[in-house]
Amino acid sequence: MSEPAYRRILLTGATGALGRMLRPHLKELCETLRVADRVDPGPAREGEEVRTVSLEDREGMLALLEEVDAVVHFGGVMKEDWDLLLAGNIVGLQHLYEAARINGVKRIIQASSNHATGFYPAGQVISPQDPARPDCLYGATKVWGEALARLYFDRYAIESACLRIGSAFPRPNGRRMLSTWISYADLTRLVRSCLLAPRVGFSTIYGVSNNRDAWWDNSSAAHLGYTPQDSSEPFRAEIEASTPALAPDDPDALYQGGRFVHVMDETRSDRDCN
Ligand SMILES: NC(=O)c1ccc[n+]([C@@H]2O[C@H](COP(=O)([O-])OP(=O)(O)OC[C@H]3O[C@@H](n4cnc5c(N)ncnc54)[C@H](O)[C@@H]3O)[C@@H](O)[C@H]2O)c1
Repeated sequence: MSEPAYRRILLTGATGALGRMLRPHLKELCETLRVADRVDPGPAREGEEVRTVSLEDREGMLALLEEVDAVVHFGGVMKEDWDLLLAGNIVGLQHLYEAARINGVKRIIQASSNHATGFYPAGQVISPQDPARPDCLYGATKVWGEALARLYFDRYAIESACLRIGSAFPRPNGRRMLSTWISYADLTRLVRSCLLAPRVGFSTIYGVSNNRDAWWDNSSAAHLGYTPQDSSEPFRAEIEASTPALAPDDPDALYQGGRFVHVMDETRSDRDCN
């Protein structure tokens, strides 16, 4: 059997939906998989180390990245709650990159989001080279994450792949996801490709399956070697039969980010705006 590609990989967000899905697949790529979350990820499995730490805990993050060779960063906040976003996605991400620098980590695979560009019109084909157009504060924190990745590559040669994940679920739910869906198997392929690619540099790629009506052109990220093998198409007939056609003013019909374009108004406290 060949040697694993890495000595130690760190998976953050290991208690979350995608972290739990990725965890068993990462073990085969490393001698030791360190899994971490602020919520206990459960007992260590064979070849694993388990840590409970918050991204906003600077010292804790410094210790978490000790002797780590690559990071798969899936910890973070998806809720439109500024205090949580600030702690986890802004401060926490800076702690992650700084701890990576101090500990000599060479590669970070980062869960970004399609909501970094969610204000582009639905149907327009865009590429990772197009300017960011976040659709909410959450999306804006992902742009920050990508900016940090760029900075730490230019300044310290730490490689990053920023995955602008579409909708990662066991199956597409609703019409928008016919465009944005990524299967769990394809997301696993994507993370694996980014870990095994000879050179990542600073790369941004959309995390999407091979969907007929995808809006994202990943040809500029071909060097990462990601070839999606699933598609939302087999689910189309059932989704179209069970959900009404989208009204022309439905955010899912207008914007790539769908309803996320309204989430700031739904959650904003006007008491903070006087
Ligand atoms: N699920 C999707 O379709 C999707 C789409 C786009 C992007 N993403 C991104 O992928 C990542 C994982 O998504 P998920 O669906 O597994 O989310 P999730 O909410 O299920 O998991 C996130 C994990 O991060 C942990 N976390 C949150 N704040 C933390 C903090 N301050 N310190 C330490 N840990 C913290 C949580 O405890 C949780 O276990 C997120 O960054 C998310 O933005 C997911």
